Amino acid sequence: MGHPQALQIAIDGPAGAGKSTVARKLADHLGYLYIDTGAMYRASTWLALKNDIPLTDGDAIAALASKSNIQLKPADESSDGKIRVFVDGQEITREIRTQRMSELTAGIAALGQVRAVLVEKQRELAREGFCVIDGRDIGTVVMPDAGLKVFLTASPEERARRRQKELAAQGETPDFEALLKAINERDYLDCNRAVSPLMRAVDAVELITDNMTIDDVVLELEKLAKEAFQPAPAPAQPRAHERESASALTDFQDLPEFQELPEAQEV
Ligand code: DC
Repeated sequence: MGHPQALQIAIDGPAGAGKSTVARKLADHLGYLYIDTGAMYRASTWLALKNDIPLTDGDAIAALASKSNIQLKPADESSDGKIRVFVDGQEITREIRTQRMSELTAGIAALGQVRAVLVEKQRELAREGFCVIDGRDIGTVVMPDAGLKVFLTASPEERARRRQKELAAQGETPDFEALLKAINERDYLDCNRAVSPLMRAVDAVELITDNMTIDDVVLELEKLAKEAFQPAPAPAQPRAHERESASALTDFQDLPEFQELPEAQEV
């Protein structure tokens, strides 16, 4: 048996660092499941709005999120490269991506009761095994044992520029300073909330992507994944049929040429 956690890649970082785009591409290349946890927080905001629940009522939103079927499905042409999101069968892919939803979701994500429910759902999805999962607390809270943890970031200015380009491609002409302000505000909320604030896990690899294209980042992550999950070398121990005769030598381990051998690893 291999190490199950070695099949999971956790990607955290601030809003607009390109996490979901690169995480999705990486998952595609590796043939892994992609889990967009931000989409689950957005879906919970959508649920609260739809059911007229005050956005500060953590217990009610958590109860509703708990009994709702939040489904993530692969992106297609209809979803602009974003994964498709369904709640109890209803598609909400587009509704949850507006600027207003981003702002409201930062508040919902600060509610401990909602986080507890969604973290459980995320772990359940991740139990499937091979996955790339992105968010803010994946390496620190959701999957502290992930085999590879990455903290993906870029300066606020670069993230605002990327957002401006993205919106321009949709025919909008947003003000750069307003975008930068919104990014700084979301960073502040994500980093300063009491429950599971955005932070880099101590054992995460930090990647600052200011001067990198999406493809550069995906390539770098694939490299990291290969390094992290390299199959263990063939055991340098005697084979089973050799072991019997070797064990006849009681002082086998004391022989100098065997002291240097690496430990056999599970493959
Ligand atoms: O990644 P995103 O922009 O879709 O996330 C939406 C919001 O949810 C954002 O305010 C951060 C929050 N979030 C979180 O707190 N924890 C996660 N694991 C994922 C997202």
